[in-house]
Amino acid sequence: MSLNTFTIYLFGGTGDLSKRKLLPAIFRQETLSSIDHESQIIGIGSKDMQLDEYISLVKESLSNHFNGFDPSGEAWTRFSMRLGYKKLDINSDSDWEKFGEIPQDRPIIYYLATPPNLYKVISKSLKFGNLINNNSRIVVEKPIGSDLKTANEINNSLADGFLENQIYRIDHYLGKEAVQNLLAMRFANTIFEQSWSNAAIDHIQITVAEDLGVEGRGDYYDETGALRDMVQNHLLQILCLIAMEPPVSINSESVRDEKLKVLKSLAPFNKDTIITNSVRAQYIDGMSRGEAACAYVDESGVDSKNNTETFVSLKASINNWRWSGVPFYLRTGKRMKSKSSEIVVRYKSVPHNIFSSESSIEPNQLVLRIHPDEGIVLKLNTKEPDVTGFNLEELPLDLNLHDYHEIGNQDCYERLLLDVIKGNPALFVRRDEIEASWAWIDNIINLWSSENVPMEDYISGGWGPSNSDLLLKRDYRSWKNGSKK
Ligand code: BG6
Repeated sequence: MSLNTFTIYLFGGTGDLSKRKLLPAIFRQETLSSIDHESQIIGIGSKDMQLDEYISLVKESLSNHFNGFDPSGEAWTRFSMRLGYKKLDINSDSDWEKFGEIPQDRPIIYYLATPPNLYKVISKSLKFGNLINNNSRIVVEKPIGSDLKTANEINNSLADGFLENQIYRIDHYLGKEAVQNLLAMRFANTIFEQSWSNAAIDHIQITVAEDLGVEGRGDYYDETGALRDMVQNHLLQILCLIAMEPPVSINSESVRDEKLKVLKSLAPFNKDTIITNSVRAQYIDGMSRGEAACAYVDESGVDSKNNTETFVSLKASINNWRWSGVPFYLRTGKRMKSKSSEIVVRYKSVPHNIFSSESSIEPNQLVLRIHPDEGIVLKLNTKEPDVTGFNLEELPLDLNLHDYHEIGNQDCYERLLLDVIKGNPALFVRRDEIEASWAWIDNIINLWSSENVPMEDYISGGWGPSNSDLLLKRDYRSWKNGSKK
């Protein structure tokens, strides 16, 4: 399918995000010949650079990114011709005056691949430079603030120049096939809906574990921590997709309306529950990917005085009819045993065990795997073949999406960028969602400090501190760690 003609301005056009994600994502569409010949991609950076230097920089990033990139191929020839470069010091009025006219016949996309402290001045300058029209869109990356107050400041400055439906706030998890598949699984199959509630579900676990540490991002991470870096956005977005009511349609505001209701139904923690139902921790040295790994406090850019958490687990409750009494256990951390993101839906036990004398019955378990091996596993109890008894065994119905499709070629940014070009904001985060999620997170951060919730240790390469296991053990439950089978 061919895309409408567009012009995209990449602020931070020479930076890491543009080189590693954005330019390759647009280029892949070029290889599929879906970009109209008049579309333009304009890199914006503070460096003085000639256009041919920028073209070389882009060529180099694409050849680093794609095995088999062909610098003499047609796709690159077309792509290089739509590239442009503008030198712009964001704080210089005279540079903004030289920005020039924007095309009026197509969507204009301003992609801010810059640190968030520049969002305000960029959106203000775009407004005062008359660079915004009805067909303009602005795309911003996380972090949108570090709390509700700073998020509001950013949102206010974006709202100064752009209408809410022109603002695209990226949560890259929403661009992942396996995350979108949660919508397909829930709302394109009738078999789950009747049992998708406290009537049949005992509890739900959401784990996003990473084996890497802070990887040279110590400065940023030390100011942020796992709760703000991962829970406020990615984990809460996943939770919304799992817990929300059926939306009216996928392409309208209704997905975001339903997600918002979930965020607003999250029970706030209080002085008692923050102690029992939350765990924060920091990694100490250990092993990662078979090699010795240093403690978080020894990572460069990290100040031990900041006492920043690299791991969080929470027992969250959603106060509504569907989910009352069903805990949602959330867990994320750096330097854990493996990179694995999954949702485990643990059903209730059968009401009466007719096999009781011979076999115990494991409750059913549905695992929705986001990474690795995107797919779905439903564990069912079956009878072990045997002519004398009636023993049960748990076997998996295992759907690995890789068995059916080549997924992985496309990055989540590709889907998201295409949606911006098409003007479909369903997979982006609306302002009221950001506000509701920060309100919930701010309360946790405040209680952590007012109630002196201890910072635990965990060994690099493990599944987190023992208190995280205790969080479930107290409820006679346990984490499923990398529960592929
Ligand atoms: C980012 C966080 O949003 O998500 C990083 O800032 C984290 O700290 C990353 O590593 C994880 O994303 P993914 O897609 O690799 O799971």
